[in-house]
Amino acid sequence: MSTDAPRPERPARFTDRRVVVTGAAGGLGQVVAALFRAEGARVVATDVAEADGVVPCDLADDAARTAFIEHALGELGGLDVLCNVAGIQQFAVLSEITADSLRRHFEVNALAPLLLTQGFAEALIESRGNVVSVASISAVMGQPYNTQYCASKAALLLGMRSLAVELGGRGVRVNTVSPGGIETPMIQAAAAGLPADADWNLVAKSQSVIPGFMPPEDVAEALLYLASDVARSVTAANLVVDRGVVW
Ligand SMILES: NC(=O)c1ccc[n+]([C@@H]2O[C@H](COP(=O)([O-])OP(=O)(O)OC[C@H]3O[C@@H](n4cnc5c(N)ncnc54)[C@H](O)[C@@H]3O)[C@@H](O)[C@H]2O)c1
Repeated sequence: MSTDAPRPERPARFTDRRVVVTGAAGGLGQVVAALFRAEGARVVATDVAEADGVVPCDLADDAARTAFIEHALGELGGLDVLCNVAGIQQFAVLSEITADSLRRHFEVNALAPLLLTQGFAEALIESRGNVVSVASISAVMGQPYNTQYCASKAALLLGMRSLAVELGGRGVRVNTVSPGGIETPMIQAAAAGLPADADWNLVAKSQSVIPGFMPPEDVAEALLYLASDVARSVTAANLVVDRGVVW
């Protein structure tokens, strides 16, 4: 099938399901929230950036994150699905990485999703719900100038897999999606931030079988699959959606 073939009509897999989506002001998170709503879910969306219908919250801030968890549980009366989509990526050569920047990558990309899962755990145990977090193919491959991102996404990947093991016996599934390049503001900003003297032989080492960046819908579909009941036997999984990156 061609990659731009029309999609079949949407099912309604999430009627009245209670869903939280982070990073929903734009990019992938916005599409994920819209697709959940299109399938009948009640969605609380959040982001540090302001957008219509999105609850503002810096998820790296302990007090703000705790308040958001309380707000979402109050609004939804419980939780069936937590989608951790928010993330940051800033390229930097080793000599220019600062402790603050490295810390921020870990706070947003790893700590926030793990602590959100902790905060929503009781509600998810009650609903026998699930968590889907967006890692990256960068979590399992060395990428030049991308140390902060790769290291923080690797922490997320293994943190989520550990929680899958810990929460599995209590009926909660935990999975990750690892995308390759998606057409979103993040990849545009990240590419613009590559060092001027970047070694392009290193940057170009990983190439996808299907050329070009993916539309966010192609990755969002993977999140919805994992969150849905048809994936009831899938946990501790990392679903790679990257157009076949080989390196
Ligand atoms: N774009 C890609 O090529 C690509 C590839 C692999 C993985 N990913 C991952 O996909 C996810 C979505 O990224 P995207 O491409 O849509 O990028 P994006 O920059 O468009 O979206 C990320 C969102 O996260 C939000 N965010 C950042 N810091 C936050 C914080 N402290 N609190 C709350 N929200 C915060 C941003 O405001 C933004 O709206 C990220 O986790 C990213 O790492 C993206």
